[in-house]
This record gives sequence, structure tokens and C-alpha cells, in this order.
Amino acid sequence: MYWVRIRSGRGEAPASARLVPMTILVTGGAGYIGSLTARLLAERGREVVLLDSLERGCRAAARDLPLVVGDVADPSTVRAVVDEHRVDALVHFAAYKAAGESMEQPGRYFRNNVGATAALLESAAGAGVERVVFSSSAAVYGTPDALPVTEAAPLRPESPYGESKALVEAMLGWLDRLGGLRSVSLRYFNAAGAWPDGSLGEDWTLTTNLVPVVMKALLGRRPPLQVFGSDYPTPDGTAIRDYVHVVDLAEAHLAALCHLESGGASAAVNLGTGVGSSVREVLDAAERASGRPVPHELAPRRPGDPVAVYADNRLAAELLGWKPRLGLDDIVASAWAWHSSHPDGYPAGGHHPDGHGS
Ligand code: WQD
Repeated sequence: MYWVRIRSGRGEAPASARLVPMTILVTGGAGYIGSLTARLLAERGREVVLLDSLERGCRAAARDLPLVVGDVADPSTVRAVVDEHRVDALVHFAAYKAAGESMEQPGRYFRNNVGATAALLESAAGAGVERVVFSSSAAVYGTPDALPVTEAAPLRPESPYGESKALVEAMLGWLDRLGGLRSVSLRYFNAAGAWPDGSLGEDWTLTTNLVPVVMKALLGRRPPLQVFGSDYPTPDGTAIRDYVHVVDLAEAHLAALCHLESGGASAAVNLGTGVGSSVREVLDAAERASGRPVPHELAPRRPGDPVAVYADNRLAAELLGWKPRLGLDDIVASAWAWHSSHPDGYPAGGHHPDGHGS
């Protein structure tokens, strides 16, 4: 539990003022990584309030945490939540996250991921929020020139999705420089996995990422997995990525909040294991977790896919004291625990009536 002095009006209250707990606003808190992070923050004694439109989030994922259903771009909604819940820190997940979809709907991605975030940051800062942890992505790098990828690598996004993350990082830089709003942008590599007991996870209807697609194939909910490329210059011919457990990611968000609360400077930080795993290694882990072979077929390479991408995660250790604890088998086993026990995702009806169903 964190206690700070109550703010009275624009200034600080007298020293004798009652101490009140401050709250973390988690946008996209009914989504995949948002809901797991909110749960971990709450379990570590932090006060959280979730804001989600439920367009792609699911009410059930919020469990018993306070959830406001609304638009992050609406200033009155944000100010009301900040004032009512005494928010002083923001963890911003709310965004569309499919790189492929962004190539087909660039305007929608820039409006939602950049425009709405600009409005959110303006409202939150104006209401007194002082710290931001931003859900960014390794997609800001595009195809890296060198491996492992460090934070000094050039930002060359190859999709409107990746560009939207780079643009928000740039906005945050200006808001710090001109307004003192400090932030940490967390550049996730390949986020995957679920809550270890299988009680929280990803809605697989909204993703084309490898791990949930493997789970769907294992459970017979889709045709065999298409392995995009088996002729890459890698040990087993399949492409390599840095899969990082969502629980490790959640820990990193808490570490980033602590860094900012202790006066730490703004930064952009890679979140990856530093270990590359091939598609074939993911399939082998899935077979170990499920006890059954993954139905799959070899297919041509997917255009735009780099041969290999994995993180240099030393800055996360140095700045945030964060190191991933979980590996590929933990990731795939937790994904299997979630998807095999929730083949239809969360209970129906958890979505906004106008949003995407699951
Ligand atoms: C992983 C590997 C595919 C599906 C994307 C986004 C990135 C980030 C993570 C949010 C690749 C192979 C996949 C399939 C396959 N998202 N694959 N068959 O492309 O590395 O990155 O998600 O931050 O921004 O770009 O992830 O899961 O799509 O692919 O063989 O049906 O699995 O070729 O090698 P990717 P992915």
C-alpha cells in the first residue's frame, strides 16, 4: 500500500492532512496484458482502477477490480476517474495491436493508438497524473540490423502499428521535456502465455500470433498451423523470436512504476528474455505441455518476417532491476492451461455490445 498526501485543489494539503492511498489507472485493463498486469499490481497491494471500452477487452477479465467502461479519449471520463479514484499514475495498454491488421486499416490504428492516447495524456496530466508506464513494442525497431536488439537501435517501424508505438513514445518525450510528465515505455518482444493457473489469458479470436494459434490447432479449433517458412538460415530452418511471459511483463510494469515513484528519469526499455526460440521449438514445447502433437503444415515464408529477433535486456536489469524468470516451457504450459480450460475464451457477454465479440 502506498500512501501520499491528499492534494487539495491545485496545491499540496497541509502536512497534517490525512494520508490517502494513491491509485494506478490501468487503461485497457480488461484486455490481455492489461488484465494480468492489473491483477499482479492488486496482489502486490497497489490500488488500481481499470478503464476499458470493452471494444476488445472483456469484462470478465477485470474480475473483482474496479472497472470503468468508457473511452480513454474522453476528457470528462478521464478526469472523473482520476479525481474519484485519486489517480497519480497511469499504465496505458489500451490500443489495437495487430501489425497485419494495421496494414489494412492504418487510419483506424493511428486514430485509436495515437490520437486517443494524445487525448488521454493531455487529460490525465491536466488532472494531476504524474507518471506514465506505456505499453510499447519491439515493432518500433522493424527488422533490426544487429542482434540482440538494443534500445539504441534505430526506430524503423514497418507497420502503422509499430509506427503508432513510436509516435506515442515521441509524444511522451515532449510531455516530459515541456511538462515534467515522466514515463517509461516498455518495448515488449513477443508477449505470450497466461496466468499460470489458467484463470486469465488472451482472447484468441483477436490475434494471429503464434502461441494462441498453436493452441487453437491443438484444440482442433482451426485447421493445422501453417509454419511460415522452414528454409531460414537458422538451426532448424524456422524463424526465431524472443517469447516473453506476460507475468514477467506484468512484473516489469510494477518495476517501472517503482522506478518513476523513486524519481527515476523517463526511459524506453526492451522487455525480452534475450533468448531466441524458433517456431519448431515452440511446437515442441506445445507438444510437451499438451501431450499431443501440434497439427501443422510447412508453408512459404510470411512476407516481412525477419529471420530472427531477440532482445538485449540489460537496460531493464540496470534501470528497473527486472529480469525475466520464466522461459518458453512456462509460457506454453500457461497458454495451454488457459486455452484448454477456456476454449471459448471468457464467458459470453463480457464485451461492449458494439465491440468485437469473442
Ligand atoms: C511469430 C513467429 C511467424 C503465426 C508480432 C508483431 C509484433 C508483436 C508480436 C505486439 C514468426 C511465425 C506465426 C503462424 C507462423 N506484437 N508464425 N505461423 O510477427 O514476430 O510479431 O507480434 O507488440 O509487433 O509484429 O509475431 O506471433 O505473428 O509470429 O509460423 O500462424 O511465428 O512467421 O516467425 P511476430 P507472430
